Amino acid sequence: MNTYVNPEPARPTGRGLSPEQEAVESALVEKVVASFDACGNPRLKEVMGSLTRHLHSFIREVRLTEAEWGAAIAFLTEAGDITDGARQEFILLSDVLGASMQTINVNNEAYQDATEATVFGPFFVDDAPHVELGGDIAFGAPGEPCWVEGMVTRTDGTPLAGARIEVWEADEDGLYDVQYDAAKRSARGHLFTDENGGYRFWGITPTPYPIPDDGPVGRLLGAVGRSPLRAAHLHFMVTHDDARTLVTHIFPEGDPIGWHDSVFGVKQSLIKEFARQPPGTPTPDGRAVDGPWSTVRFHIVLAPKSA
Ligand code: BEZ
Ligand code: FE
Repeated sequence: MNTYVNPEPARPTGRGLSPEQEAVESALVEKVVASFDACGNPRLKEVMGSLTRHLHSFIREVRLTEAEWGAAIAFLTEAGDITDGARQEFILLSDVLGASMQTINVNNEAYQDATEATVFGPFFVDDAPHVELGGDIAFGAPGEPCWVEGMVTRTDGTPLAGARIEVWEADEDGLYDVQYDAAKRSARGHLFTDENGGYRFWGITPTPYPIPDDGPVGRLLGAVGRSPLRAAHLHFMVTHDDARTLVTHIFPEGDPIGWHDSVFGVKQSLIKEFARQPPGTPTPDGRAVDGPWSTVRFHIVLAPKSA
């Protein structure tokens, strides 16, 4: 049963509150904010004070009913119940509310033409296999082969040699390796740029897939008429000692899901042409490919550490 759909009719908005009611509600906000006065950690005090003001303001603005408050608690309880080492429903909730993406925006300030960041997602693992430049990260995952190449540079165009590039993606059935088996490693890998900052590898052409939607977050999306689908994408995390770490994706141009991405991860600058090659087209490294394949170029620009 959907426990968080409002069972009560909407109440009038906060407009027109009596002075007495207004005074009761405002006094409570100030009292709660003041309860953090003795906090010895100035940042915690700031965050809790602001959270209190925004939360109360939300409750007062929508005139939250007690049944709605109860439904919200039931929703969070369900999110807690389904969360374990492999499933993180609270991050998913943050993702579909755009809170993850906004936190990324706040913490990865735009810097000249540095490549933009986007959501990390729950499917990164830190022991992806190493592949040589030009190697194949698919490791048997089903999907159309895709040749990915580019350079990693600083914003002044200087190549960054030895940058570590982690890549991971879903297979053509929309599943990550770890969704089959926590120990499985396919459609992911890491490689290092050459002395000219260049990199190249075989992956698979990304296809759209749903975020896990068999829990409370999926039901919330259903209740508001939103799709759980993520725009097709290929994840990157790029690190170098002299640069700001970049976590991002690239998105194939022309994907119908595109701007309807369920976690708001798409940015114009990250949409790239994945050029489809008909069967029989010679591949860049001479590999024999049965059927069509695609190719994409992604120039990665890292901001300085201080940015
Ligand atoms: C992902 O891209 O892997 C992802 C991001 C947010 C939620 C679920 C999956
Ligand atoms: Fe993903």
